[in-house]
Amino acid sequence: MSIVAILSSPRKGANCDTIVNAIADSAKANGKDVKFFDLCKMENKNGCKSCFGCKKSGNCVQKDDVRELLEAIKSAEGVIVSAPVYFGQPCAQYRIFEDRMFSFLDPAFNLFIDKGKKVAVVTAAGSAGAQELADQIEGRFVNYFKFEPVGKIAVVTGNVPDYAAKNADVLKAADEIGKKF
Ligand SMILES: Cc1cc2nc3c(=O)[nH]c(=O)nc-3n(C[C@H](O)[C@H](O)[C@H](O)COP(=O)(O)O)c2cc1C
Repeated sequence: MSIVAILSSPRKGANCDTIVNAIADSAKANGKDVKFFDLCKMENKNGCKSCFGCKKSGNCVQKDDVRELLEAIKSAEGVIVSAPVYFGQPCAQYRIFEDRMFSFLDPAFNLFIDKGKKVAVVTAAGSAGAQELADQIEGRFVNYFKFEPVGKIAVVTGNVPDYAAKNADVLKAADEIGKKF
């Protein structure tokens, strides 16, 4: 079993990516395999079509790159998710992924996937909203999908791309979270 790491910031050297990488490095040092999925690099990705086809089987009917990510989560022991704050919300690339997790729920909102997978959440905002977004994402993973939270990092970057890379406290917090996988 492995850890799935999900990147969604479109900018090069993103703070979110730096922190996810640091968590992943720590998890790897702890003997875990980490498989990365970069939503911005997926050429074939589609939003949820609200067809409710998943409610019969637990599988999204769309056979695109996001479906591969969903399949990887099913067999993973944990995920590291990340999203930049855009207009107070997660960026669009992240939302495509999260909406597609609807396929993990049956019609009564019981789970098609195992409960108790671990989740770490990473968010970044230029000036405000990172903590709120991290809390919201973690809340959805815990309340809908019964993940066990192992930590979250919400940074306010001032829009500086290497803010996290130069912040020892952030990198230490990432290292600590990685050890919990
Ligand atoms: C389209 C867009 C919308 C944004 N909206 C917000 C916002 O509502 N609040 C905020 O504090 N920063 C906002 N930002 C700034 C980003 O959250 C900030 O640059 C953050 O560091 C991005 O994460 P990253 O470094 O991991 O890419 C926005 C940036 C973009 C491109």
